[in-house]
Amino acid sequence: MGLFSKKTKTVTVSSEITKSRILNKDSDFFVQEIYKTLRTNIMFALPHTDENPAGKVIVFSSAIPGEGKTTVCINTAITIAQTGAKVLLIDADLRIPKFHKYFGINGKKGLSDVLGGFCKLNEAVVAIKEHGMDCIPAGQIPPNPAELLASQTTVSLLEELKGIYDYILIDTPPITVVTDALAISPASSGMVLIVREGKTTHTVLKNALKSLEFANIKVLGIINNSVIISETSYGGPLSKYNYSKTYRYDYKKQ
Ligand SMILES: Nc1ncnc2c1ncn2[C@@H]1O[C@H](COP(=O)(O)OP(=O)(O)OP(=O)(O)O)[C@@H](O)[C@H]1O
Ligand SMILES: [Mg+2]
Repeated sequence: MGLFSKKTKTVTVSSEITKSRILNKDSDFFVQEIYKTLRTNIMFALPHTDENPAGKVIVFSSAIPGEGKTTVCINTAITIAQTGAKVLLIDADLRIPKFHKYFGINGKKGLSDVLGGFCKLNEAVVAIKEHGMDCIPAGQIPPNPAELLASQTTVSLLEELKGIYDYILIDTPPITVVTDALAISPASSGMVLIVREGKTTHTVLKNALKSLEFANIKVLGIINNSVIISETSYGGPLSKYNYSKTYRYDYKKQ
């Protein structure tokens, strides 16, 4: 409970998302609204000039494992696709890929196979009809993920995909564990960094931000996943400003 008194009713956004971690028509209203706000913020953070060729590619990562990168990346893609934009999700976690499990698709052919020249791009793209978007799963686990993601082949592939899709969202492994996210990011317009309340420490976050600064990668935004928010907050459960329910009104006895 920490900051809250015993009487304060608390709602954890985490429990709502746990029930329906990947957005669907039955997802909680507040969770959907959170992702809409996130969508707006990301769109504002993206450079909108013709001179910026990487304006539509967004990398999602975090400092350490299990902070919600894949969940937030997929849900953001779903929310962007709801606007009618053409969206592609790419699973660039070539070490512990997850998209095939989250979407229940056959992930045998994917990004690594396209980059390695083992299959054609159209063989790796899977339509996620329920959400009106496309996805490229990771494919076979390669021996050299970081080198593959840093290669000119990856840059060329993203260039080709940018001509087809409005937004390309890329899920990656954690920054402080392997360099894969840093390897693919120069071909993007920036990174969205996920932190998880109660899990991410200041030290690991600082280290991740230092790596991004060193690699000259733009941070489009930082998402605080699993925030515990008071239901009595002023302005509803999305507000961080606590609003005390208890008014004290003293009156003098006549
Ligand atoms: N806000 C949330 N509330 C509750 N559970 C969550 C939330 N976000 C993610 N999770 C759960 O936490 C676990 C890890 O999430 P996810 O796979 O998205 O993290 P990740 O950062 O991609 O992990 P990895 O580093 O292993 O790739 C999953 O079981 C997911 O459903
Ligand atoms: Mg992941």
